[in-house]
Amino acid sequence: MNIVLIGYMGSGKSLVGSHLAKKIDYKFIDLDQYIEKNEGSSISKIFEDSGDIYFRKIETKYLIKCLSENNNIILSLGGGTPCYNDNLTHINSTNNSSIYLKNNNVELSKRLYKSNSNRPLISAIKSEKKMIEFVSKHLFEREVYYNKANVTINCFKKNIDAVCDLIISNLY
Ligand code: S3P
Repeated sequence: MNIVLIGYMGSGKSLVGSHLAKKIDYKFIDLDQYIEKNEGSSISKIFEDSGDIYFRKIETKYLIKCLSENNNIILSLGGGTPCYNDNLTHINSTNNSSIYLKNNNVELSKRLYKSNSNRPLISAIKSEKKMIEFVSKHLFEREVYYNKANVTINCFKKNIDAVCDLIISNLY
C-alpha cells in the first residue's frame, strides 16, 4: 500500500511525510522534489520557463510514474496535484490510501507569508492581508478535491507526532 498525502501549500505534507516514513519504515518521496530531480530544474524555474499548463502536464506524468514504479511509499504531493487532470483517480486507486492534511486559511496564510519565495503561485503576494484573501478563496475552491481523500486529518494546533499518530491509527 502507498500512503498519499494531500493538502494545501503549507499544510506540512513534506514534513509529516518524511517523519511518518521514519516511524513506520516506509520509503518517502516528495513529488515536487521528484519532479525537480527528473527535470533537472526547480519548480519555480519550470513555471517561469514553461508556464503552469506545462507544469500540470509533467506533474501528472511524474505522479503516474512514481505510483506505478513504487510500492509501500509515502508520497507527498504538491498542493495543486489532486486538482488537475485525472490525478485524483490515480491518487485514490486501490493500492493507495489518500490522507488530507487539513488546516485553516489563517494558519496556512501565516505559514505561507513567511515562506512564499519558492512557491510560484504566491511569490508575488507581499502583505499578510493579501495572503489571507488569496488563500481563503483558493482553499475554498480546492477543498472540493481535497475532500475526496480517504481520510481527513485535522492538523490545526497539532504537532507533527500527533498528526503522524492520527494517520497511523486511521490506517491500521
Ligand atoms: C503548488 C504547490 C507546490 C508546487 C507548485 C504548485 C500548488 O507544492 O507543487 O508550486 O498548486 O498548490 P507545495 O504544496 O509543496 O508547496
